[in-house]
Amino acid sequence: MKGIILAGGAGSRLYPLTLVASKQLQPVYDKPMVYYPLTTLIEGGVREFCLISTPQDLPRFRQLLGDGSQWGLSIEYREQARPEGIAQAFLIAESFIGRDPVTLILGDNIFYGGDGFQKAFAEFNGGATIFGYHVNDPERYGVVEFTPDGRALSIEEKPKQPKTNYAVPGLYLFDNEVVAIAKALKPSARGELEITAVNVEYMQRGKLRVSRLSRGFAWLDAGTSSSLHEASAYVQTIEKRQGIKIGCPEEAAFRAGFLSLEQLAALTARIPNCEYREYLNELVAEARRLPQTA
Ligand code: G1P
Repeated sequence: MKGIILAGGAGSRLYPLTLVASKQLQPVYDKPMVYYPLTTLIEGGVREFCLISTPQDLPRFRQLLGDGSQWGLSIEYREQARPEGIAQAFLIAESFIGRDPVTLILGDNIFYGGDGFQKAFAEFNGGATIFGYHVNDPERYGVVEFTPDGRALSIEEKPKQPKTNYAVPGLYLFDNEVVAIAKALKPSARGELEITAVNVEYMQRGKLRVSRLSRGFAWLDAGTSSSLHEASAYVQTIEKRQGIKIGCPEEAAFRAGFLSLEQLAALTARIPNCEYREYLNELVAEARRLPQTA
């Protein structure tokens, strides 16, 4: 499955932070924000990526992530000149998607915990899979109503009167039909090609699966100054307590088998002396002690 990371937008809610670096490059505790969604997709087994951002910001994403080969990945880049909707990503990335299924993740969505996503990736067999996550403020999101066996009954974008408390997080899995569906969309009242309209089309075809994310799962939004701060605090709390890192692409690539232990060790040796390097060194040492769990 191919992977798209959508990291566009003006980031106006984070002004003035976003005057010099886009939202998805801002730090979330100890890493740039985009590391988190990238890691989520690597954990889902995705190896081929297309990152979409604005013409101004693309050079900095390239500088940060390169062609992905250092992590055993491939990363291509495409421009979204204007913020004309999430579903526009499938038009921009059409040649990258080719004939494959594709997953799209929003560059500011941070997920942690459980194996809900890995299961969804492993079980995906056509149609579309989206997720439902219980939130306090569903009116800010796409809102989904679904049966206990995961059949979607309705899905609405930012409804004034939400039918449920289940918001749709910014991670979607689609078969190759998504390109044709996106091509047929008309812009919404806010002038965007809506991802919710894509999901509604799959629902009408009887091909939309909703997977409910469990209570123990964290979905954090980092789009405002206070939610960015909260996301950092959350990551710091978990990392300090558990001695593990959230959103570490090197570790995820190693665990997914995209990097060998020797490649991970060589990569770590090139990182300047810092806590991030110490963490990876420890991972290498542990894998050498316990090769069976590597
Ligand atoms: C977008 C989608 C919405 C989804 C949300 C997740 O909202 O339109 O359906 O629930 O991302 O972060 P927006 O970022 O445009 O407010």
